[in-house]
This record gives sequence, structure tokens and C-alpha cells, in this order.
Amino acid sequence: MTLRLTLTAAVVLLMANPSHAQFNYDEAKVPKFTLPDPLVTSAGEKVISAEQWAKQRRPEILELFESQVYGRSPAAPKGLVVKQTDIDTKALGGKATRKQVTVYLTGENDGPQMSILIYIPNNRSGPAPVFLGLNFLGNHAVHADPAIHITKSWTRNDPKRGYVDNKATEKSRGAASSRWAVDMIVDRGYAIATIYYGDIDPDFHDGFKNGIHPHFYVGKQTEPKADEWGSIAAWSWGLSRALDYFQQDDDIDHKHVAVIGHSRLGKTSLWAGAGDPRFAMVISNNSGCGGAALSRRAFGETVKRINTSFPHWFCGNYKKYNDKEDDCPVDQHMLIALIAPRPVYIASAHEDRWADPRGEFLSGLYADPVYRLLGTDGIGADKMPEIDKPVQNTIGYHIRTGKHDVTDFDWTQYLKFADKHFRKASR
Ligand code: GCU
Repeated sequence: MTLRLTLTAAVVLLMANPSHAQFNYDEAKVPKFTLPDPLVTSAGEKVISAEQWAKQRRPEILELFESQVYGRSPAAPKGLVVKQTDIDTKALGGKATRKQVTVYLTGENDGPQMSILIYIPNNRSGPAPVFLGLNFLGNHAVHADPAIHITKSWTRNDPKRGYVDNKATEKSRGAASSRWAVDMIVDRGYAIATIYYGDIDPDFHDGFKNGIHPHFYVGKQTEPKADEWGSIAAWSWGLSRALDYFQQDDDIDHKHVAVIGHSRLGKTSLWAGAGDPRFAMVISNNSGCGGAALSRRAFGETVKRINTSFPHWFCGNYKKYNDKEDDCPVDQHMLIALIAPRPVYIASAHEDRWADPRGEFLSGLYADPVYRLLGTDGIGADKMPEIDKPVQNTIGYHIRTGKHDVTDFDWTQYLKFADKHFRKASR
């Protein structure tokens, strides 16, 4: 009976996306593997102090992720150019201030730009801590508020939801609102800021002709080198530019920015938080392969599959590890370790087997020794918690009921996690 139910559930899940059917979903078929030890240097030396981690091992791991996985990104442009295009101090029925701010990504006011939508709670005693995340469908899709500018950037077509001729229309307002608990966040005293990821780089492979990449080519360069940024790194770089802006907005507490993302944008929030220590908290929602999930498990989506379906996401060098995960000098637990000792939350969904929930949990577990070396309580669990039973220490983790998505259950946990870590700080 139990077996029949399990098999039925597996078939239903596979039918949900038939192209995923040929991948491994059997725990017994996960290959045997040895993970690189985050606390042993490339030269084989054991890392025994926080100082050795900060000065030697962390830079070594960061450089490996830059050169082998996501690609190196350029430095921030000199002098941030921003333009506030909207302010309403009585937004969301009077409880929030809405701002829309254009950030010019090359520091020139006729260059590429991204628009940040921000809601700041009016009921606050000082600058507000903020959740910052990229969105998939345009800022106007996160809430039905009619004053949000509709994105003018390229979008994927989806006529049912109001995306036609690669442009967003009025019909698409609020299309993603179930994933953005804007009111709940503001009611709890946090600001929420979001940017359409397509402002930074449209999400399709065109050999890096559009988006931000060409603006940083050197000389006759026509595409990034094998160790230079792919799209995930570019989106992460855009998140850091939003943080540059927060540093000059007195309404935002830029020392308490939680960077959050779902799925490919969860991979992006992890890489943003790993590379830019100004992010005080990092949240990965169902980030899967190339995000929180361990690549060596090859459970669900694999390195080869992701590099084939999305050749623009990672750097050229990452393709060396197609079907050769063991050859990669890093695995994704080391990405989590790069965030230490800052709080990181990894969230999985039970039906999201493509993203390998167990592999997502194990990254947190295997990053735990680094968190402990740096004096925190780490993950505080030695096995995967039950469904809908979050564990929240310096590393947070949950696997919730349901599918690949961002739900109010997820946001409820993130708010609790932020309260725990941000409110205890002297604010
Ligand atoms: C695909 C991809 C995943 C990704 C997801 C998403 O399913 O294979 O790696 O996380 O899209 O971003 O929605």
C-alpha cells in the first residue's frame, strides 16, 4: 500500500514535467562521492582558526567559484548615478512609502538601467531593514498597485498573463503577487525592494549581445571569457548595485539587507551573498542545481542538463564539469560556507524533486563546520527535519509541503528568521 502510494506520487511528479523523467530520483542510485573539505586548503593544510579561514581558505574558495562556476564580475561602476522616478508616502492604503528608483548600471545616465521598486513601512522608528530580491515578471507583477511602472524591458511571451510581443501589458499587473507577501512584510516592519531581472540581462542565450555584458567588454571582445560572468553572476552584480543605492537612502537600513531569490534567482541570491559581504542575510528559495543543491549527488537536475538547457547562466569553464561533477574543485556546500558567519536560510519544497531537497539540506549541513569555526551555532540539526518543521539557527532550513513556488509559509519563516537575527542586533 505504502509502496503503491509512493510510486503513484512519483509518477504524478514526473508527469508534471515529462522532460525531467529520465533523471535520477532514486536515493539508492545517488553515486558515491567525496566532497571537497571547506576546511582544508588547496595545499592540504587543515584550517583551524577564523583568521586562517578569512585570510586563506575563504579567498581560495571564492576564486574557485568565480573562475569555475559563475564567472568573474566587473567592479562597481565609479560614482553611482540614480534617479528617483516616483515617491508616494501614502502607498498601500497609507501604511507604506513607495519609491521607484532608476539605477544606471554603467554610471552613465544614458546607459543600461534597472528600476528598483521599494515599499518602506511608515510605522518605524528608524531606517527599515529590507528584503531585496529579483523578480521574474517585472516589478508591476509583484503587487496590483496601479502606480508601479510597467517594465519596458524584454519579457518572455505569455499572452494569458499579459505578455505579448516580448512586452509586458497592463493585464500582467499583479501576475506574481502570490509570491510576494508585500503587505505581510510591511506590516512586520520590513521594507521590500525588488528589481526585474530582465533589466540587467534578458534570460535567453544570445551569445551575450544584449543585457549588461557588452558594456564591459574590453577592446574587441565579443563575449565573456571562459572565467568571466554568465547571467547568474550578472544578476547578482545588479543586486550589489541595489545595495550601493541603499547606502545612500536614509530610509533603508543598509546594514540589514536580506537578499532573497527563488529558483534561478535563488542561485543568484546565494552567489550575490557569497560574493558581497555587505548582504547581512541570504535566503535561497528552492534554488536547486547550481544553487544550494550538492552537484555531486546528480539527483534531479544535473550540471550537464543545466549547462545544456541554460548555456548562459554559468561561466564557460563550468561546462568542463558536465558528467564530471567529481572533477570540480568545489561543491555547493562551499557556496553556503562563503556566506558564514552571516545567517543563511535554505528552503526546499517536498514536490520539488528536480531541485533535490535533500541535496539542498546537505549543503547547509556540510557548511556547518565553517559556521561553527566562526563561532556561531551553525545548522543545529544532524538530519533533515520533517516536512513543515523548520529549523532556525544561524543556518535555517525547511522543507514545506507542496511544489516549486514561493508561498506565504515560506515568507512566514523568513520573517521569523529576520526577526531572530536582525532584531537582536542593536537597532
Ligand atoms: C528550470 C531549471 C532550474 C531553475 C528553474 C527556475 O527548472 O532547470 O535550474 O531553478 O528553471 O528558475 O524556475
